[in-house]
Amino acid sequence: MTPLVFITGASSGIGQSLAWRYYQAGYSLALVARRTAEIQAWATERGLQADRYAVYSADVAASDSIVAAAQLCLQQQGLPDVVIANAGISVGMDTADRADLDVMARTFATNNVGLAATFHAFIDGMVRRGSGRLVGVGSVAGIRGLPGHGAYCASKAAVITYCESLRGELRDSGVKVVTICPGYIDTPLTRQNRYSMPFLMQVDDFSNRAFAAITVGASYRVIPWQMGWVAKLLRLLPNALYDKALSGRPRKRRATEV
Ligand SMILES: NC(=O)c1ccc[n+]([C@@H]2O[C@H](COP(=O)([O-])OP(=O)(O)OC[C@H]3O[C@@H](n4cnc5c(N)ncnc54)[C@H](OP(=O)(O)O)[C@@H]3O)[C@@H](O)[C@H]2O)c1
Repeated sequence: MTPLVFITGASSGIGQSLAWRYYQAGYSLALVARRTAEIQAWATERGLQADRYAVYSADVAASDSIVAAAQLCLQQQGLPDVVIANAGISVGMDTADRADLDVMARTFATNNVGLAATFHAFIDGMVRRGSGRLVGVGSVAGIRGLPGHGAYCASKAAVITYCESLRGELRDSGVKVVTICPGYIDTPLTRQNRYSMPFLMQVDDFSNRAFAAITVGASYRVIPWQMGWVAKLLRLLPNALYDKALSGRPRKRRATEV
């Protein structure tokens, strides 16, 4: 039987590239985003076989919306082998600005509650079946805080920790929880950045490596590997040195900035 992958954030960047990687590997696709027309246009352009994919409209920041999409997928395409909670937003914030508290709330609703809500409908079925992969997309930005980026860094730290909790809960069930932490990947999300992005990676190279890590059921993988070492060093660096290294670094762009 054709394996099935369910991917949120499939209208752009990493999600779209992963969709292509899984399609090439013979999977059927369940593709989720708010901008479903973008997904449809991409599927047509790539010449995807109509019986190998379905598109679901959902806002992961609204739990009922993404849970309904997941349930529709269960009815129409069956229980996925791989679920990739990839949808995410990255917006700068200034805690002194009232409007940015809403930015923070939206970031957590999308990147954190949205991730758990993506997994929710599939867990019982996967545990009964005794197999599956639940993939959380974190970030190297979740290792240490970056100036002006508090909402995103905190949300990605929470992704890493949440996935670790879930991994413990599902241990021995046959369901693997895989945390993928991208470094800097060339997508619309990073094209706005006004600071240097070491080891910037092309998105299809990233997807090849992520696909391999998910397939072997790695518990945690930083991609590219060079950023894995950076992440390890960042964890060890004393605060005084870390703060000094960041001094003068521009803040993350806020939504209201051009
Ligand atoms: N690019 C990087 O360097 C990098 C580094 C570390 C981590 N990441 C993480 O990788 C993931 C994908 O990022 P990307 O670089 O591919 O960004 P992207 O090109 O901006 O794509 C983001 C995707 O998330 C979807 N999305 C956002 N909010 C959503 C919502 N409320 N409901 C449903 N879908 C939503 C978007 O779809 P719609 O707008 O159509 O809904 C879009 O498909 C994110 O979690 C990001 O934090 C990226």
